[in-house]
Amino acid sequence: MKKTICLPLLSLLFLGGRTLAQNAKPTVITINANEKAGDISPQFYGLMTEEINYSYDGGLYAELIRNRAFQDNAKVPEHWSLVKKGNADGQIALDSIEQKGTALTRNLRLDITAVDGSGKIGISNDGFWGIPIRKNKRYVASFYAKTNKDFNGPLFVTLESADGKVVFDSALVSGVSGDWKKYTVTLATKKTTDTTSNGRFVITAKNKGTIWFSLVSLFPPTYNNRANGNRKDLMKLLAAMHPGFLRFPGGNYLQSNKVETRFDWKKTLGDISQRPTHDNNSWHYHSSDGMGLMEFLGWCEDLKMEPLLAVFDGLTLNRKVQPIIGDSLNIYIQDALDEIEFLNGDASTKWGAQRVKLGHPQPYNVKYIEIGNEDWFDKIYKTWDARFTMFYDAIKAKYPNLQVISSAHVTSRTPDYEDIHHYFSFKQAFKLAHKYDNYNRADAKVFEGEWACREGAPTTNFLGALGDAMLLTGLERNADIVKMSCYAPLFVNINPGGMQWKSDLIGYNSFSSYRSPSYYMQKMFATNIGDQTVKSSIADVPLGSDTTEQLFYSVTKDSKKGTLFLKVVNVSDSILSPVIDINSAKEIVANGQEIVLTSAKVTDTNSIDNPENVIPVTSVAKGLSNHFTYNFKPHSVTVLKIMTK
Ligand code: AHR
Repeated sequence: MKKTICLPLLSLLFLGGRTLAQNAKPTVITINANEKAGDISPQFYGLMTEEINYSYDGGLYAELIRNRAFQDNAKVPEHWSLVKKGNADGQIALDSIEQKGTALTRNLRLDITAVDGSGKIGISNDGFWGIPIRKNKRYVASFYAKTNKDFNGPLFVTLESADGKVVFDSALVSGVSGDWKKYTVTLATKKTTDTTSNGRFVITAKNKGTIWFSLVSLFPPTYNNRANGNRKDLMKLLAAMHPGFLRFPGGNYLQSNKVETRFDWKKTLGDISQRPTHDNNSWHYHSSDGMGLMEFLGWCEDLKMEPLLAVFDGLTLNRKVQPIIGDSLNIYIQDALDEIEFLNGDASTKWGAQRVKLGHPQPYNVKYIEIGNEDWFDKIYKTWDARFTMFYDAIKAKYPNLQVISSAHVTSRTPDYEDIHHYFSFKQAFKLAHKYDNYNRADAKVFEGEWACREGAPTTNFLGALGDAMLLTGLERNADIVKMSCYAPLFVNINPGGMQWKSDLIGYNSFSSYRSPSYYMQKMFATNIGDQTVKSSIADVPLGSDTTEQLFYSVTKDSKKGTLFLKVVNVSDSILSPVIDINSAKEIVANGQEIVLTSAKVTDTNSIDNPENVIPVTSVAKGLSNHFTYNFKPHSVTVLKIMTK
């Protein structure tokens, strides 16, 4: 019989000795390997993303120049400074010289008032907490510039150490004139270059006069060499998780505090000079919009993920303002229909043709559309059902095959999926692990679109991973109704000021990145899942001295190979040794595989300086059969791979 008890658990966290009340009877996990309980969706594990914690700017989006379009602050050119070498004088200031044919409205003016033979003067950008300098790499730098008629000379583009003492490479740009023009140069580091996370990017001159700069950009090599692409190390970490889908563009980032600053997809298309950028007031920093709609889709293509697009539905984060309703909502419904047409329409459609023009002839074939984000916050005006109905009807009328996801419970229509979010403590994981065991199967299928056990910061510690694993066993056991799931937030830039939301999955600075214990746990789960859940039960679950459940499990199966995946979370400080009874038509191979994530203290964690403090260990699992006893380590998450022949 199942025990579902949730009581204070703090006593378990730092146990010196044993506290477990030992059960008289052994715990038995019974697995009916031939009886399918549900199909596991190929999209069971995915990713959720938004611009939070410097996830794109200063994160996944590989641009290295911060405030590249000078939009971050209307008064001062943040992250830009004047640099002088030798005898030179001048100043910098924001300006707004028109650049026809672009969305760029602000530029940086450099007035050089004095410079002698050996002197140089110019502008310097310090990047997102430093510009990373790596060995043997090519960087592509580009900028727009124009001069006044007094200026007549070349510009020197350099990658330097933060103090300017070391110049890693330089390039010359000549012919800058009175007309705005884009200049592109390549800079390269050597095999012998000393690496640093704290370089700077500099453009200098040796002549008097005025130069205006606009949209200054610097890209290192990107994942799959995509133009305007993503950081390689982070993409590799994501690829290893085998994500089935990507939920984008938010989260709160979709909604914003006011309609004008929502994620307005039409303003994120095309060359970066066509993007006005926007105030990400959900998370209090400016967004370059370098990660625009097509970049999200490129990211999906690179990692072979199904795109799951959320559309703005009239609800902002300002709870005091009434959500947009009635006829006023029609322009946003049309905007969503345009977006779907842009993504899925062929070249004969207005927006499909636009996509073709922007270089993507094939439709993206998006299948999942989510209406809004967390509409359960619409508590004062209670407009959610009416708004959802309008979106649902309009989308289904034009695209009946699209799967429509509601971002909160809705009664007016039956959505294909309902997005349910859980941010929880370790203590709360005990109850959550069983949330779907008795869920009404007649309700919409479940999309766990944001979840995280928020223990530890900036990235979660091992206790967080234990809590997350408890939840995931519950999701897997109920894979007949739970169809998709994704952790949030995915990323955090660990520099001071980089984090707006604690307990994130992957941390980084400009140079390197690391994985939280929960990342490792999720990878263990997502890469060992199969395509079915099988019927199973647990009897005589061990309880702690405070009668809190100690062991959580799920069983899934690869129906083609016959492999079973038994996942067990032991939250106690003792070895637990349940009996595993497998009713199987096929013979069990004695040697399987175990992957174990554990740590001496539950507060142990990984960090940029100690990235592999808590990592899983894989070894041979011996003595497997139809009836065996297995030792699960104290405070551990185990995936037991049981092969059949
Ligand atoms: O993941 C952080 C935030 O939590 C998301 O933006 C929002 O949807 C949720 O409330």
